[in-house]
Amino acid sequence: MRRKLAAGNWKMNGLGANLAEIGKLTKLHRTPVCDIMIAPPATIITSALVEAGDHALAIGGQDCHAATSGAHTGDISAEMLRDAGAGYVILGHSERRADHGETDEVVRAKTEAAHAAGLVAVVCVGETLHHRQTNSTLHVVGTQLAESLPNGVSGANTVVAYEPVWAIGTGEVATLDQIAEVHDFIRAELKTRFGDEADAIRVLYGGSVKPTNAAEIFAVSNVDGALVGGASLKAEDFSGIIAALETA
Ligand code: 13P
Repeated sequence: MRRKLAAGNWKMNGLGANLAEIGKLTKLHRTPVCDIMIAPPATIITSALVEAGDHALAIGGQDCHAATSGAHTGDISAEMLRDAGAGYVILGHSERRADHGETDEVVRAKTEAAHAAGLVAVVCVGETLHHRQTNSTLHVVGTQLAESLPNGVSGANTVVAYEPVWAIGTGEVATLDQIAEVHDFIRAELKTRFGDEADAIRVLYGGSVKPTNAAEIFAVSNVDGALVGGASLKAEDFSGIIAALETA
């Protein structure tokens, strides 16, 4: 059985004052029966860990450089995230692919760096509205998977997040049929490439997940949790999603 994962991506949101949300969340879910991860901005990773205390809640980065160190002003390596106490790193998010021109090749190199540093890589894939309207969703997602995931992927070191770009931050959610189709496809592709290990790899859905729609999304086959943006910023909202996942 894959242990379910509720992951929050705070994106470029979060100051010291927002850390209280993490404290609230740990109190709302003292002994969760799913994994919980929050990826705050790197500036508050250490204080987020202090806020979480001895709670099992994991902290993640939102990106890392493919190199371990060197002349890359402004970048952060996977080893630095690990050193700061992070357990996860989100890689290949569509906002990074769009804003920073990250290619599958770059994402693969970053994923290898994350693995080498002992981080769990949350590798994001997903089609744009144009791709969906031109019926190329599975082709696009298949190519991103094939080229963004390095060899050596396991359930212990990698999570895949399916995030349709058109559903991110828009309030528009993929239909349950659309989610099922892509998640089944991702599972099949992982099986073809990684064999039995694929059964251990968690596949998350992301894109306007809210407490109100979480339960129906978590009932879809091959959905092992969610990667949540906006609704992860407030403990009450994220808590509703975690509760739905715990009972799924
Ligand atoms: P929203 O939940 O705000 O749509 O964001 C999803 C996302 O991009 C998580 O990585």
